[in-house]
Amino acid sequence: MNNIAIFASGDGSNAENIVRYFADNKSVRVKCVLSNVDNAGVHLRMKRLGVPSITFSNQLWREASGIAEYLRGQEIDLIVLAGFLCILQPPIISSFAGKIINIHPSLLPKFGGKGMWGMNVHRAVIEAKESESGITIHYVNAEIDGGTVILQARCPIYENDTAETLAQKVHELEYEHYPRVIESLLNG
Ligand code: GRF
Repeated sequence: MNNIAIFASGDGSNAENIVRYFADNKSVRVKCVLSNVDNAGVHLRMKRLGVPSITFSNQLWREASGIAEYLRGQEIDLIVLAGFLCILQPPIISSFAGKIINIHPSLLPKFGGKGMWGMNVHRAVIEAKESESGITIHYVNAEIDGGTVILQARCPIYENDTAETLAQKVHELEYEHYPRVIESLLNG
């Protein structure tokens, strides 16, 4: 069995989509969801789906060695960040080297880095009058949005698009591609 841990801080629609995708899979399962936000929407979604979701304090995320130990105990094979707004510290990154991936809602390196998360990204893309945007799925290293790119997918931006309509298009791309990338990484 390949065990996934998802880290999420917000609504958790990607987390839910990933759980549903692997629900009947015999060799891949979402073992747990970890968060740094106690009242994040992701917890309610996981409760409905019967997946354990746990909040660790920001202090514990900063120390990180206890969380790394917890993940080793859970025999986690892949850590999937899905809207996780805490910077991962060395104990987790080094314990799971090459086994942590993230999804970013733009075509990195464009619109990445500090402050570029959630709607901030889509507003910046619209303000810059880009003709396309998309998603980047990448490995996680110590640099924000800096790891090797695994996959990018694109969507066009039309004149009447707003940050909100763009966010919707990008979410569709996320739902389509993220579970498949996870599956192909785990199946080698
Ligand atoms: C997604 O757009 C993802 O790209 C970004 O955070 C957002 C999370 O959305 N990293 P949700 O909580 O899964 O709905």
